[in-house]
Amino acid sequence: MSRILVTGANGQIGSELVDVLRSRHGASRVVRLDLQPPPSPDGHSASGPFEVVDVRDRDALADVIGRHEVDTIYHLASLLSATGEQHPDRAWDVNLGGLKNVLDLARQHHLQVFWPSSIAVFGPSTPKTDTPQNTVLDPATMYGVTKRSGEMLCQYYHRRYGLDVRSLRYPGLVSHKTAPGGGTTDYAVDMLKAAAESEPYTCFLEPDAQLPMMYMPDAIRATLALMDADGTALSVRDSYNVAAFSFAPQDLVAAIQRHRPAFGCTYAPDERQRIADAWPSSVDDSTARDDWNWAPEYNLDAMTEDMLSHLREGERESGSVGA
Ligand code: NAD
Ligand code: SER
Repeated sequence: MSRILVTGANGQIGSELVDVLRSRHGASRVVRLDLQPPPSPDGHSASGPFEVVDVRDRDALADVIGRHEVDTIYHLASLLSATGEQHPDRAWDVNLGGLKNVLDLARQHHLQVFWPSSIAVFGPSTPKTDTPQNTVLDPATMYGVTKRSGEMLCQYYHRRYGLDVRSLRYPGLVSHKTAPGGGTTDYAVDMLKAAAESEPYTCFLEPDAQLPMMYMPDAIRATLALMDADGTALSVRDSYNVAAFSFAPQDLVAAIQRHRPAFGCTYAPDERQRIADAWPSSVDDSTARDDWNWAPEYNLDAMTEDMLSHLREGERESGSVGA
């Protein structure tokens, strides 16, 4: 029986993707892989196979792929933008060393691969609004350098070896299930969490730092739609732009205040503002829309409402919010 492997499965995206894949295919057919077991297993994630492996260890990865008869890999293990700036050597090793291992093993075992890129491939000389699919790519962070290099590696393996590797340039992702890990767009989740707990928030980006963002259910739908698409329809084999909506911290504050009028936010921008400065404020995803019918379902208000209700539910379950 063939299985799907998800690396970085404990993370913000992996924890949700695994649940959706396990609902589709059954828990035993989806193998989670990360540096350590999840802290508090729940739901579908608790019932299926789990492997503790560092993606830089090619032999250990090969062993997992062989033992579980893996035919598809969602390779999510990575350091994100802010952590990558603190640990550039490790970011290079994990992000590109891990991807090279996955691509080589996928080639050897004829596997399909999904690998996420990011808006971090764009840089200061990239057009800032409606950033096109094909444009200047001059990443300003080590994270962005690894993402652009990874895109080129994926395209090379497709052209040279016919490997079926597919990729999306995710915008900043917002979700309530698992806390984000070391990114520049994490402020949005932190702010919503503070609002749900009736706490004020101090934002590490400027009030007008507008960035492309997406709600997690749309990101998971985009990922699965791309993987399900007819390969002959895909005109992009480095990485597709995908977009949902753009907002700045001050826009999220206003959206929250429509539900929580007393919510307050102050601003203390730190080094992450420099990272945000180099990224686009909006992205043109028309190629994804044309090639595999991509369309997001959530806008800023719908996401804010859904996030606040889930975060409040979580607080109630943990007993820290009154009914
Ligand atoms: P995350 O930081 O929440 O999770 C990453 C996971 O990878 C963690 O559980 C971590 O333990 C694991 N990991 C790190 N190094 C590892 C190693 N050497 N071996 C095995 N596992 C390792 O990240 P995420 O937000 O879930 O992102 C997943 C992917 O999506 C990454 O490639 C990221 O660059 C990309 N992405 C995320 C966003 C976003 O906003 N979350 C946006 C664009 C792209
Ligand atoms: N959301 C990610 C980050 O901020 C972008 O890839 O690092």
